[in-house]
Amino acid sequence: MKTAEPQAAEVALGPSLARAAAEIDSLFEALLPDPPDPRRRLFQAMRHAAIGGGKRLRPALCLASADLFGVPRARAFRAGLAVECVHIHSLIHDDLPCMDDDDLRRGKPTVHRAYDEATAVLAGDALLALAFGILADPLTHSDGAVRAELSGELSRAAGAWGMAGGQMLDLLSSAERESLDTVTSMQRLKTGALIGWCVEAGAILGHAPADARTSLRGYAQCLGLAFQIADDLLDREGDERVVGKRLRKDEQAGRVTFVTLLGADRARRQADLLVEQAAEHLRGFGEDARLLDAIARFCVSRRR
Ligand code: IPE
Ligand code: IPE
Ligand code: MG
Ligand code: MG
Ligand code: MG
Repeated sequence: MKTAEPQAAEVALGPSLARAAAEIDSLFEALLPDPPDPRRRLFQAMRHAAIGGGKRLRPALCLASADLFGVPRARAFRAGLAVECVHIHSLIHDDLPCMDDDDLRRGKPTVHRAYDEATAVLAGDALLALAFGILADPLTHSDGAVRAELSGELSRAAGAWGMAGGQMLDLLSSAERESLDTVTSMQRLKTGALIGWCVEAGAILGHAPADARTSLRGYAQCLGLAFQIADDLLDREGDERVVGKRLRKDEQAGRVTFVTLLGADRARRQADLLVEQAAEHLRGFGEDARLLDAIARFCVSRRR
């Protein structure tokens, strides 16, 4: 497959991401009401975190993967909405004082700053629970076995064997102990597991053949690592006003990343290499995978 230049890929991807973001916003609007009782505060906190801002990269990945197998867009959007709920839950909890203690997210105060810590914990919990409710609904797929597979895989990707486990490894990481190998394993869980689910979800919804699933898993593994290296590079070099979160924090907090281990230049080269490897995994899909290819290139060229 001929791959687009990074700049061209980013330009081509812009409208797709914007469309995904608008659709996800309106789905959240419909799902998160404003009840006339004390739970209103919880719903308001969930809306604060879920509506507006965010690249919506995970829903875009679900859509791009599902598109390869002719999955109706409404179903792919529901998978995207579910994984975005889990992702936002992880961000709310990641920002808490007991984790990264951040006051800015997506250009707004973090949930515990805008509300309070207890509300932030509950908003994160409620979004995680909502994700599984979305997947369990027959609107996501008429076949219960498909819904069960989506849910089981998301449980694995979000929990102690996936994202939450990766967060634990990240919190306990120490410069003396970590190596490239251990940081790679940690990033695969912390960030890669949910990204992997997005791509897998498209394949599950579309009953994709085993060889296509294997190629997509290879793509997602490379993408997940490249994505987290880009996040760590933004922490070192990004513009806080564009990124919308506090930067220059990883080193000071004692976090071990590809950037702290390799330095920015080598980490950037590693991310670029991973994108080329991700593209290789897409080869068999030909032109049909150009959106997945563009997403990978966007992940390492992004400014936010
Ligand atoms: C940030 O994810 C947290 C990581 C997993 C590194 P994103 O960069 O996708 O954050 P949003 O969704 O665009 O805010
Ligand atoms: C956290 O990684 C990834 C999650 C699972 C939420 P970071 O702590 O680096 O994410 P940011 O930089 O705060 O978005
Ligand atoms: Mg963190
Ligand atoms: Mg953080
Ligand atoms: Mg970060």
